[in-house]
Amino acid sequence: MKNILKLVPVLLLSVLCSSSIETFATGSKGTVFITGANRGIGLALAQNFSAAGFSVIGTARKPDQATALKETGARIEKLDVTDQASVDAMAQSLADVPIDILINNAGIIGEDNNDLASLDVENMALVLNVNTLGPVRVMKALFPNVQSGEQKKIVNISSMMGSMEMNTWGCCACYRASKSALNSINKTFAMNYGKFGVTFVVMHPGYVKTDMNEGKGNITPQQSAAGLVKVITDLDASDNGHFYDWQGNELPW
Ligand SMILES: NC(=O)c1ccc[n+]([C@@H]2O[C@H](COP(=O)([O-])OP(=O)(O)OC[C@H]3O[C@@H](n4cnc5c(N)ncnc54)[C@H](OP(=O)(O)O)[C@@H]3O)[C@@H](O)[C@H]2O)c1
Repeated sequence: MKNILKLVPVLLLSVLCSSSIETFATGSKGTVFITGANRGIGLALAQNFSAAGFSVIGTARKPDQATALKETGARIEKLDVTDQASVDAMAQSLADVPIDILINNAGIIGEDNNDLASLDVENMALVLNVNTLGPVRVMKALFPNVQSGEQKKIVNISSMMGSMEMNTWGCCACYRASKSALNSINKTFAMNYGKFGVTFVVMHPGYVKTDMNEGKGNITPQQSAAGLVKVITDLDASDNGHFYDWQGNELPW
């Protein structure tokens, strides 16, 4: 009897642990993975997807400081998209976790590259590393997770700044190039993998009041995320390879 009593706390703990794992996986509309989810649009996406009944995995470079993300109930993974070892560790931690929707959101604006005389080439390399190669590292590492998910959606948060047709006023050469390149890469994988049921899109989240533009946007992160979540949840195979804004409008390349 004494031995049985000793086992009670252990059994209780194992039941609690297994039920919390199950809660994460079942009874949800799917699992969404979001990079840069500790602030700005990424955090608003985590909040909106969580409120809509999805299980959220959000990444942060400093998980211990990601208080608002933690409050959404998201599983938090540490990730710096420029660091291959960090990407590998994150992927290892998520091995065998099916991902329905992968969202590459993390990004930086970098220095303004308007002036050829003062242009900082090293800074351009950093912007390309974060905004273009970062999403590629993440897609490469987590593609098996997406293939084992049911919805098989990959959303790369781009920008209308990446549209060459919409570039009518200059500015931000490298940021623009980083998003144009992301658009191109997204299109290639859309063509390669669409036939296997994977849907790749690039999206412009609107001009959003975040740290990136020192709060100068014309919509809030919550407005942007609400629109993005609706468009993303409605995506199907016919959207593969397209470029949409946060309201579902098609954008020119
Ligand atoms: N705001 C806009 O008007 C606007 C318009 C068009 C497109 N976008 C795009 O929307 C996305 C989100 O932008 P935002 O406005 O929300 O920016 P933000 O408020 O500056 O947040 C950027 C996020 O990216 C993360 N990040 C930066 N470098 C990273 C790295 N090396 N590894 C991992 N995470 C990194 C940041 O993490 P830390 O907190 O650790 O720095 C942060 O979570 C970006 O791709 C941006 O280009 C924004």
